[in-house]
Amino acid sequence: MKKVMLDVDTGVDDALAILYGLESGELDVQGITTVCGNVPLEMVVSNTKRVLTHMGRTDIPVVPGAQRPLLREAEHEYKVHGADGIGGAIPDVQAEGVWPYDDRFAPDFIIEQASRHRGELTLILVGPLTNFALALRREPRVAEWLKEVVIMGGLVSEAGRGNKLPNAEFNIYADAEAALIVFHSGADITLVSLDVTLQTYLTMEHIEQLEGTAYYNFVRESTGVFREFSRDLFGTDGCALHDPLTVGYVLDPTLLQTERHYVTVETVSPLSYGQTICDFRGLWKEAPNVRVCLGVEADRFLAHFIETLRGKA
Ligand code: RIB
Ligand code: CA
Repeated sequence: MKKVMLDVDTGVDDALAILYGLESGELDVQGITTVCGNVPLEMVVSNTKRVLTHMGRTDIPVVPGAQRPLLREAEHEYKVHGADGIGGAIPDVQAEGVWPYDDRFAPDFIIEQASRHRGELTLILVGPLTNFALALRREPRVAEWLKEVVIMGGLVSEAGRGNKLPNAEFNIYADAEAALIVFHSGADITLVSLDVTLQTYLTMEHIEQLEGTAYYNFVRESTGVFREFSRDLFGTDGCALHDPLTVGYVLDPTLLQTERHYVTVETVSPLSYGQTICDFRGLWKEAPNVRVCLGVEADRFLAHFIETLRGKA
């Protein structure tokens, strides 16, 4: 079992990543920290707890984090994730009163777990990087205490194919200052970017393979708004499995072809705020700081995702 922590902004694909990671049986999840992102923090906390309750996993700590980005105003993605952040799925599953009141703060929890499990803990970040940036500001040694940091975010080769600005992806765009702190922290970072996640669309054909299994209704209902948005914006009927692929990389790194390069983040320009700039040719003569993704075995990943949710993987 790999010791991991998830930092989420639940969100539809965050929910699918939680299902996938926990059902894989390969991850020893020390806790899930929550951050303002797709929807406001309070809704992220509630959605994360509701999904875990739906799974029967109320043993997993859920720790609240940043109410908003470091500097900029929060922007949410209701048009992608629905008014409640999970596409209106599991309306009857509530989680209030199930977890004891938790007055811990996500950045402190990240520091505590990284210190307790030195060299063993993988931090999987699938929302804006605000919590991890705050942890680094309080305790910079977290960067070396963590075994690995795997981030869903950015785009490095597919300029112009962002989902917030032509060159910016939501998680980085939502708090580019936080991303800048994280990318230059010295942590062992792998960036699972739109370059590969936009090749992993969950279609109705995939979803129908879940019929008769525990998560069929949740996956079909939670992805409805997301699939409609993708059809309208990208002309592709499906839910891009951004966050599940990030978990998939932790489960099986051979799913992605990676290279280490120098990556930094634009935080000034209104045209490209949140752009992850990868210096493939070493023009800036800076040491590589991020493992970037150049290819994905999409069919093998999608098959594993479906089989894991079917309970057969
Ligand atoms: O750009 C996609 C990412 O932004 C995903 O993590 C999605 O959940 C949103 O957080
Ligand atoms: Ca997310």
